[in-house]
This record gives sequence, C-alpha cells and structure tokens, in this order.
Amino acid sequence: MSEAALSAVPLYRHVDRVARGLAAQGIGPGAAIPPEALFGLDQWHYHGIDAIAAAARFLGLGRDSRVIDIGSGVGGPARFLAHTTGCHVTAIELQRDLHEVAVDLTRRSGLAARVEHVCGDALAVELPPRAFDAAIGFLAIVHIPNRPRLLRRLHAALKPGGGLYIEDLAERAPFSPADRQALLTYVHGVSVTTIDAYAADLRAAGFGDVVATDLTPDWMPFAAERLAAWRADRAAIAARQGEGAWAAQEEFYAAIDRLYRGGSLGGVRLTARAA
Ligand SMILES: C[S@@+](CC[C@H](N)C(=O)[O-])C[C@H]1O[C@@H](n2cnc3c(N)ncnc32)[C@H](O)[C@@H]1O
Repeated sequence: MSEAALSAVPLYRHVDRVARGLAAQGIGPGAAIPPEALFGLDQWHYHGIDAIAAAARFLGLGRDSRVIDIGSGVGGPARFLAHTTGCHVTAIELQRDLHEVAVDLTRRSGLAARVEHVCGDALAVELPPRAFDAAIGFLAIVHIPNRPRLLRRLHAALKPGGGLYIEDLAERAPFSPADRQALLTYVHGVSVTTIDAYAADLRAAGFGDVVATDLTPDWMPFAAERLAAWRADRAAIAARQGEGAWAAQEEFYAAIDRLYRGGSLGGVRLTARAA
C-alpha cells in the first residue's frame, strides 16, 4: 500500500476543512490561534481532547517530559499535550500536506518551541536511542504495515521505564473479505488484528506491564452517534467546512459504523512500559 492510497481515504481529503473551520470562528490565515479554537477540528480520534488528557495523566507528563507522537495528523494531540503539560513533543507525520498544516497551526498557537514536527515514515525516521519519556499513537498505527518493527523502534527510543499509550482499531471477530476491503478503502487499515495479537507484539518488542482494554462497548455507540450527528448537522457543517468535506467524512463515518454493527470491528487501548 502506498502513501497515495493513504491520502485517498476520506478522512485525509479536504484538509482545508481545518482552515475553513477556523475562518468560521473569525480566525483568518496567518492569525494567532487560541488553543480552544482548534479542539473541534484537529483531534482525529475518539473522544477528542478528553482522550489525550487521559493519556497525559497515565504517562505522568510534565515540563521535563519528551514525548513521541506516532502519526500525528495535523498535530492536535501533540499541541494539546504541550499546551496542558508543558512537555516537548516530537510529532511524526507521513503525509506532507498534513505535516505542513500542522507546522502552521503549531506556530500560530505559540507552541513551536515545544512541538517539533517531523515529516516522515515512523518506520524509517531517525529516533535517538533512550531519549524519550513517553510515546503515544492515536488511531495511527492501524495504517502502518510492519507493526512489530515500529514497536521495536519505539522501545529503543524510550528511556527504561518510559510509557507507551496507544488507541487503535482492532479485530473483534474475523473480518470477512468485504470487511477487509472496506477497511482498506475507507481507513487504509493495513494492520488491524485481535487485541491479543496486538498485546503480544508489544511484549515481543520488549514492553512490560502491558494492559489492553477493549474499547468497543464505548466506541461502537460513539461511532453511531457521530454519524447521526454528522447527518443531522449537514447544512451547518457544509457551510463551515465545505460540502465536499462533509460528504467525505460522512462516507468514512458510515463505513466505520457499518463495520462496528457487523460485529467484526472493535477498538482498543494499550498501555505499557519499556522494560
Ligand atoms: C487518524 S490520523 C490520527 C492523527 C492524530 N494521531 C490524531 O489523533 O489527531 C492517523 C495519522 O497517521 C499518519 N500515518 C500513517 N502512516 C504513518 C507512518 N508510517 N508514519 C507516520 N505517520 C503515519 C496518517 O498520515 C494520519 O495523519
């Protein structure tokens, strides 16, 4: 699967929806951005900033912490962590257009001294050994084909005792060929496995204290409500973000909702410590 396939999935089309969403709040191109103005636009995972705040608590982040964010998107989680805890984040994002939006948003949010954006493949970018206190990955590792290699790299980059906090999709019951195709088409989900297989990859990479939590009972209704709200608010969202952006995300939300309802798709949180 190529980077082109990744950028073609609905969530990553119409990235200008962020700028349009800011403009709807009276924040034009280049203007300073109060962090709160972005919270509804730059958190591309479940439960927005609440999920990131929970990660910060688990990881015990503070001003001296150095964090890696794998698949950082337009930088929402990285900025929220830096803004609320004062930590330093290295935010790694493969897609150049998302990376460039992230750099711009971070500068305009006044967080450039604490969030460093790196454009590259998390499987290949240089990560200094034993340099980081924590690593996070929110709905990103699902896209990365060689998960064992990624986890070994993260383990090597963390200081001994460093924390890992992942939220991701999982295979709850065996995917049918149609499910697999839908995962590829709508999510670019190339590494969706059972929760047990995910936890085993962490242990094989050297992590200890691995705790896996099935989030499906929470995420399934979240996805259904997200889709219903998106459809109900169509006119207002399309006016703010554009009709194309509304339609692309509706396609994505509907596909995810179908997969949950079919019983095969699930969600998982994994926490662990580098041994
Ligand atoms: C669903 S988005 C989530 C973004 C962010 N973690 C958040 O929660 O807002 C997943 C991101 O992972 C990025 N990604 C996928 N494969 C990657 C790779 N090999 N290296 C770095 N980033 C990658 C995608 O381009 C996408 O921006």
